[in-house]
This record gives sequence, structure tokens and C-alpha cells, in this order.
Amino acid sequence: MRVLFVCLGNICRSPMCEAVLRHLVDQRELHDFHVDSAGTSSYHIGSDPDRRTVLKCNKHNINVKHQARQITLDDFHKFDYIFCMDNDNLKDVLDLQPKNTKAKVALFGTYDPKKELIIDDPYYGREDGFEHNFQQAMRCSVGFLDSLSL
Ligand code: 4NP
Repeated sequence: MRVLFVCLGNICRSPMCEAVLRHLVDQRELHDFHVDSAGTSSYHIGSDPDRRTVLKCNKHNINVKHQARQITLDDFHKFDYIFCMDNDNLKDVLDLQPKNTKAKVALFGTYDPKKELIIDDPYYGREDGFEHNFQQAMRCSVGFLDSLSL
């Protein structure tokens, strides 16, 4: 099972979702699970995750380690699921998807039992946006894993 999270900059939301899902996968001792993240933009290629993402995850005892990269056409062949944070990411990813590639592209929020479909861009927002994103990442990750009945 290969899962790729995508946001705009690949420094706030998608590395957070990557860290949260990997944490749950490890907790559940699921094997053959690969989790990664990427951005639709090239703005932050090579950068570490945003300090606020790291602090928020660490506060919840979750490690974050990632170097920002931009999504590639190869990703559509490699990954089973490509989960987007908001409708801009979703449109950009669907526009990029080559025909006949296996990846299922969706908003990650479709797995939220609270039905909050959009994981909003926290970059220029208030600090509590990151806590909100974290809670969404946790609910959606649990919802996704439960949906796989592993
Ligand atoms: P992300 O947040 O898409 O969750 O990584 C952003 C990071 C950087 C920018 C926008 C959103 N930016 O405009 O640089």
C-alpha cells in the first residue's frame, strides 16, 4: 500500500499528514505500507517542514522528517492513493494525472467522520490552524485505515 499526501508547499499540511499516518501505521504494526508527501508547487523544494508543523506533531509525540519535493508524473504510477488537502490541490493533481495510471486521487477529508472536507492552508493563518489541521489529519488517518479493514 502506497500513499502520497499532496498540498501546495509540502512544508505544512502534507508532511503533517504523512507523519500522522506513518505513526498510526507503526502503532498498528502494518507492514508493506509506504507513506510520502509532495507539493504541487516548487516553492519550497528541499526545505524542512515548517517549524509550526514540527512543533505541533512533537507536542502530540509524533516525529516529522521530510524534505519538500514537487509531485512528479512517476508518482501517479507508484502510488495507490494520492490524497489532496483542498480543492486547488485536487484540481492541480487531476490536471497532471496521466491517463491509465493506477493512483486514486481524492480529498483526504472524505475520510473524516466529522465531514470536514477541506484541510485549509495554515501558512498565513493563526497558530491554532495547525492544531485544527492536526486533529483533521488524525481523524482522516484513522478513518482511512479503518476503511481498509486491515
Ligand atoms: P502547505 O502550506 O501547502 O500546507 O505546505 C503552504 C506553505 C507555503 C506556502 C503556502 C502554503 N507559500 O505560499 O509559500
